[in-house]
Amino acid sequence: MKIIEVKDYQHMSQKAAEYIIEKVLKHPSITLGLATGGTPTGTYRNLIEDHQKNGTSYQNVTTFNLDEYIGLAGTDINSYRYYMDDNFFNHIDIKKSNTFIPQGNIKNIEEECNRYEDLIMNHGGIDLQVLGIGSNGHIGFNEPGTSFQSKTHIVKLAPSTIEANARFFNRPEEVPTQAITMGISTIMKSKEILLLVSGESKRNAMYQLIHSELNENFPASVLKNHPCVTIIADEAAILDLKIPVTKK
Ligand code: PGA
Repeated sequence: MKIIEVKDYQHMSQKAAEYIIEKVLKHPSITLGLATGGTPTGTYRNLIEDHQKNGTSYQNVTTFNLDEYIGLAGTDINSYRYYMDDNFFNHIDIKKSNTFIPQGNIKNIEEECNRYEDLIMNHGGIDLQVLGIGSNGHIGFNEPGTSFQSKTHIVKLAPSTIEANARFFNRPEEVPTQAITMGISTIMKSKEILLLVSGESKRNAMYQLIHSELNENFPASVLKNHPCVTIIADEAAILDLKIPVTKK
């Protein structure tokens, strides 16, 4: 794992956007795996700015998102489909038909999980997967205890995840308790992974990621087995971790 240390959230977002833009320019029909949450919004803002200023095109790009809440329609302001459209897709030239997110408001959720997994694999997999990390070490919505062999599946969200995500909802009771997520093996099949980590609240997760053994109770530890992981982390997230980093 290569770790790039940046000053703060703004620098992390800029650096991550530069990283993605370089890949898109080099491989215009790249398949990106995308994440939601607070961490990547600044990255999307930078990508939009670059698209508007420099014309980087997403016309031939395909995207697969990591996860979606069960029970929310894509039109719901708290769904990840809405988030992606609002924070990124509506502001670039990507074809909406090339943007894939699990459907959370469908009758047969099991079938939707299998369909989504097949869709990714039949498409040829993900070239670059962007990830955040939960303070409990989750990646996607793969909570502690998830099998490293898991494919796209239904998850019951951990209380700490529900609590962390309540900030996006009017009332904590509105946070869905279940979600569909790419599995850990799905994520690990990506050719390359870009993990973004910002803020003091992620310091403990970052510490464990660096120092813990492979362990299903800390899902992100699986990334140690991936041949091509780049972490962009800010000072607040890696303060005092005593790990070898590249400073930018
Ligand atoms: P956050 O979530 O970006 O909102 O901190 C990250 C995650 O839970 O994976």
